[in-house]
Amino acid sequence: MTTLGVIGGTGWLGGALLRPALAKGFVAAADLILSSRSGNTAGFEAWPDIRFTTDNRSLAAQSDIVILSVRPKDLDALDLDLSGKLVISVMARVPAEALLARFNSERIIRAMPNACAEQGLSFTPWLSTPGATDNDAAFADSFFACSGKTTRLSTESELDYFTALTGSGPALIAAFADVMIRDAIENGVAPDVAVAGASETPADTVKIFTDYGGTTAAGLTAMLSAGIAAPISKGLAAAKEKAAKG
Ligand SMILES: NC(=O)c1ccc[n+]([C@@H]2O[C@H](COP(=O)([O-])OP(=O)(O)OC[C@H]3O[C@@H](n4cnc5c(N)ncnc54)[C@H](OP(=O)(O)O)[C@@H]3O)[C@@H](O)[C@H]2O)c1
Repeated sequence: MTTLGVIGGTGWLGGALLRPALAKGFVAAADLILSSRSGNTAGFEAWPDIRFTTDNRSLAAQSDIVILSVRPKDLDALDLDLSGKLVISVMARVPAEALLARFNSERIIRAMPNACAEQGLSFTPWLSTPGATDNDAAFADSFFACSGKTTRLSTESELDYFTALTGSGPALIAAFADVMIRDAIENGVAPDVAVAGASETPADTVKIFTDYGGTTAAGLTAMLSAGIAAPISKGLAAAKEKAAKG
């Protein structure tokens, strides 16, 4: 039996990755330990055999594989020796070398899922350090395949680019859609028609990621301050003019 411990496992991404893996039977509830600081267990009611803890050392001692799913700013609080264990990080901005030094494990896998994991639509690139075994790589690939497509990379530079492209990309497209909706409203379209009746709008998505303050927020801020509204409105106006003239 392989025990999987997920530090920060009841957080947003932890849940979005684990629920599909549990639903598909790739991970058995009895083999799973999730930690948080708050003791939160919400989102896992369907799997009463999962163990929850606020003690990361206990989680680490019981686990063969440890997934790190805390925000980068919370990493410094983790003082753990994970030698001999496979360590999988989904954290942005923390290189494999830093994980290796901090947790004393040669078997490191870094992966970058995205916000579509819960729907099984993530695109998850990942890479491994030389100390990770073929079995480690196979486990990681199969785990992330439960929530979408995967691809193996060989460099952290590629992973950083995918963090921007497929990690932040959906929010950048939401910002584009938000500009189109605002343009529609300015041109007399009723707001509920402009958002097609959606309860969560592209503007909500932009706000969520901007407030989060991570890599996506950096991308959104740069894109919006470069002034994307004018060219999009210009494009819509040109298409409308052509439509009106026939
Ligand atoms: N969200 C995304 O779309 C996305 C995509 C790709 C990668 N990521 C990466 O995934 C990681 C998690 O992101 P998230 O969106 O899931 O954030 P999140 O919802 O804030 O989840 C992080 C979890 O970590 C827990 N935590 C913090 N410190 C802890 C500690 N010392 N011990 C145990 N648990 C601890 C928090 O719970 P308590 O407050 O109760 O402790 C929280 O539930 C980040 O590093 C991020 O870069 C996120």
